[in-house]
Amino acid sequence: MVMGASRWATTLRAAARQVGCSTPRQSSSAAALPLANARDKMSAWQIHSYGDLSELQLSPQTRIPHIAHPNQVLIKVEAASVNPIDVAMIGGYGATALNLMRHIDNVEFPLTLGRDFCGKIVSKGLGEYNKLPVGSRVWGVVPVHQQGSHAEYVVVDANMISEIPNNINTQEAASMLYTALTAWSGLMFSANLKLHGMTGLKALVLGASGGVGNAAVQMLIAGGAKVGCTCSTDAIPLVESFGPECVLDYSSPEFHQKLADLGRFDVIVDCAGLGSDYAMKNKLQFRNYVTFTTPVLKNMDNLGLVRGFVTTVSDLICPNIMSMKNGGLITWAYFTPSSEGIKHVYDLVSSKSMVPIVENVFEFKDTPSAYKRVQDGHLRGKVVINLGESI
Ligand SMILES: NC(=O)c1ccc[n+]([C@@H]2O[C@H](COP(=O)([O-])OP(=O)(O)OC[C@H]3O[C@@H](n4cnc5c(N)ncnc54)[C@H](OP(=O)(O)O)[C@@H]3O)[C@@H](O)[C@H]2O)c1
Repeated sequence: MVMGASRWATTLRAAARQVGCSTPRQSSSAAALPLANARDKMSAWQIHSYGDLSELQLSPQTRIPHIAHPNQVLIKVEAASVNPIDVAMIGGYGATALNLMRHIDNVEFPLTLGRDFCGKIVSKGLGEYNKLPVGSRVWGVVPVHQQGSHAEYVVVDANMISEIPNNINTQEAASMLYTALTAWSGLMFSANLKLHGMTGLKALVLGASGGVGNAAVQMLIAGGAKVGCTCSTDAIPLVESFGPECVLDYSSPEFHQKLADLGRFDVIVDCAGLGSDYAMKNKLQFRNYVTFTTPVLKNMDNLGLVRGFVTTVSDLICPNIMSMKNGGLITWAYFTPSSEGIKHVYDLVSSKSMVPIVENVFEFKDTPSAYKRVQDGHLRGKVVINLGESI
């Protein structure tokens, strides 16, 4: 019980990180090097209020974001991916907590979405933080409360970027970091695994066909784990290509029996949006069940900060009281912007232990179609927006 309580605390701290903490910033404003291309306007896909996909508008005369802190860089975006959170945020998902995080130097509307990117550094703050020179091509992520990458330019802290592995192309580089850092954080912090030493670990990934799922499978296999996967029928060849021990078709009538036959797992990672309830309803056997589908932001949207937080604590404790009867712990996991995580993904990609899976590439002008594709679901990898050089 004592260990369980401390793991709950870890999960709650992770939730608090998502809700309450912004990236540390230096207080003095920074002079930036002049823009390589001295335009001050850019095109960006933005929303001006919450609603459905029709809120997404191309704003051709938006001000290029400026560097406000010495450790920031301005990136000319070449490609960016669309994630389920972008679609959810159009509907107002997370607005209560994210507005709390935005109050320092970010505004809510107009809101540019987009959490990861590949591009070129065109300007940087005067801090010593970033060793990469202007002109470097980089990949990176944008924390969820900041203005995003579905625009010609984005500003991020320099520790949110790194050079790109030289064995992947622009669209592949843009597709990876948001989902890969989500998987990394779930395995590192929520499952408490040592990612370089997972030999003998028995893991199951639910939803191995999606962005987070395929990253989790590849990280687990690279670390030596024995991995089982679930996905639907048409995704089996894709998931088998990662080299798991077995792949179960969740739409087959024998699925539940086959899953039960596999026995108890050290860790089950839910990358399919199934949540804590799925583990209980299906009597899954696990030491640790990690899910990326958590009620934290939704509770705060629906109930406000205080009642939302209290409800969230109860949402975490109740399923754990049930699961602990069988010795299993349920933890929640979140995307964590982290230079350590970016380095881990860089190394895996460079050594070909992890490959990007891009399902579809849309041109920047067709960004709403890219969002629609993500909204429609059943993804087999990532959806990427290409900005190229022609904007
Ligand atoms: N907490 C966080 O910070 C965080 C960050 C990123 C993502 N997430 C969440 O994590 C989940 C995965 O994200 P993603 O970007 O990987 O989404 P995604 O690309 O849409 O992948 C989800 C995959 O799960 C499959 N799937 C659906 N139902 C399934 C089931 N019952 N069993 C097995 N597979 C199933 C889907 O394909 P089929 O429907 O065709 O089977 C799809 O390939 C989403 O719910 C997302 O909201 C959370």
